[in-house]
Amino acid sequence: MQPMLNTAIKAARRAGSLINRASLDISQIKVSAKQQNDFVTEVDRAAEATIIETLREVYPSHAILAEESGDSRPDADSEFQWIIDPLDGTTNFIHGFPQYAISIALAHKGALTQAVIFDPNRNELFTASKGGGAFLNDKRIRVSNRAKIDEALLGTGFPYRMFDHVDAYLAIFKDMTRRCAGVRRPGAASLDLAYVAAGRLDGFWEFGLAPWDMAAGALLIIEAGGLVSDLAGESDYLNTGNIVGGNPKVFNQLLQAIQPHRTAALQA
Ligand code: IPD
Ligand code: CA
Ligand code: CA
Repeated sequence: MQPMLNTAIKAARRAGSLINRASLDISQIKVSAKQQNDFVTEVDRAAEATIIETLREVYPSHAILAEESGDSRPDADSEFQWIIDPLDGTTNFIHGFPQYAISIALAHKGALTQAVIFDPNRNELFTASKGGGAFLNDKRIRVSNRAKIDEALLGTGFPYRMFDHVDAYLAIFKDMTRRCAGVRRPGAASLDLAYVAAGRLDGFWEFGLAPWDMAAGALLIIEAGGLVSDLAGESDYLNTGNIVGGNPKVFNQLLQAIQPHRTAALQA
């Protein structure tokens, strides 16, 4: 296996053990709000420190973009950047709602090359390497082959912090709830994307995400035979924060359905 992927797996499993230990007594966990509805705990910070320490031991010169500690670039010329969400689904975690994950991706010259998403509750490890396919606990996964959005189970994330897109979002939500087989909002974007890769969801959309919510999940979907894009159907989702993904047929219908609702606030 790719050594860089192996190191990321080791980092994710270490963070997972720490998160599992902390989840045994959530009443002890100190929570603070970074801004409205955006929470961080000492567990997020400790998990991130463990991940960074594990990566730095092997790759001291690589750049790192991590949710809680930001951007660090020990070597200005490094072509590699790790993109880390140490605990995706913090609100779920704080409430003891068992749907959260660790997400680690590696980009080389700006292109996603490695992906790890680890669900410590179910011990599910989703991995992908560029050109090498996507896996769940070492078994190959593929997107679903459901062809019609009318029969699709879609995942999404509700706007909860930046409300500029809420009207456009609700219009799309109304269309989708009328049209498809069901819409789910589990609360951890990285796992939602991994579930699309595994064929558990047929498609997904969310606006206003950060790169660490999407990077690993996007590579997983691509390597599982699916498609991801921003709202314009382009590949700028890591920068715009708006993502649509799915198996190729559902992806196209979902992207199409979103088009009439794109507003001035919500272009790409
Ligand atoms: C959040 C989760 C959630 C999504 C939010 C993210 P966090 O990440 O992925 O599903 O709707 O947009 O910010 O803050 O728990 O790491
Ligand atoms: Ca997140
Ligand atoms: Ca997080």
